[in-house]
Amino acid sequence: MFTRRKSLKLLLAAAPIAACANAFIIEPKTLSITRRDIWLKSLPPALDGFTIAQLTDFHFKPGTDDKLVEDTITAVNAENVDLIALTGDYVTDESEVLYPLLDYFKQLKAQHGIFATLGNHDGWSAPRTFYKRRFENAGIPFLINQNTKLEIGNSSLVIAGTDYVWDGYPDAQQTLKGIHKDATVLALVHEPDYFDDMRAVRRIDLQLSGHTHGGQCRVPFIGYAPVKVRYGEKYVYGHFAKDSSQLFVSRGIGTSGLRVRFACPPELVILTLRSSKT
Ligand SMILES: [Fe+2]
Repeated sequence: MFTRRKSLKLLLAAAPIAACANAFIIEPKTLSITRRDIWLKSLPPALDGFTIAQLTDFHFKPGTDDKLVEDTITAVNAENVDLIALTGDYVTDESEVLYPLLDYFKQLKAQHGIFATLGNHDGWSAPRTFYKRRFENAGIPFLINQNTKLEIGNSSLVIAGTDYVWDGYPDAQQTLKGIHKDATVLALVHEPDYFDDMRAVRRIDLQLSGHTHGGQCRVPFIGYAPVKVRYGEKYVYGHFAKDSSQLFVSRGIGTSGLRVRFACPPELVILTLRSSKT
């Protein structure tokens, strides 16, 4: 009995230490993969099964180190996806770390290309043109308040990307300008709460966002995230559907502020589009 009580005390004393060690040392470096099917009424049946890898919020050095990025690149390439979406916050403060990160991005493989947009930390660290030019030189279309049509066989998807929202100049009207009403729209918007502004203009079949890092620390099992970030308060993490528009918010790869994650590991999102018509 005495031994059992002593063991329990030891366990209770060790649990917070183990939780802290996990939150500061292990979890921020451990990649997880989330897979979801996203059913879209507008999706051409020929695109049923189309796969998208979403990567966001690298916050490369100091928020993410080389090993985690290498693990991420390897994991994405093993999925053999159709498209890769990069939804901003490549850096935290230093725009120069974009150069080694882009060298990693050049290793990414996707059947129908890689598309990117800007995050608030990127926009705060350097002019938009710094990012746009370097991504496009690397063969990655960089969408700021604009859209582009991706032809896939006899079908198509429209990819739209906004400017960052927090102190940026996002323009939902301009971003969605000229898109046919029946087109399937994939929107890349760093800050998730802008979803409501986007869907006020037209149906957004799927918006991909990051920014919140899923809260970085969540209450296990319940999933509640006590720390909220501006423009990421309504939609903190996961899949949301409103009217005929849908949103997925990823936990992202890196961290900002303290390099800590709890019950909220770095995330590679693999989404499979499904046609409701099939
Ligand atoms: Fe971020």
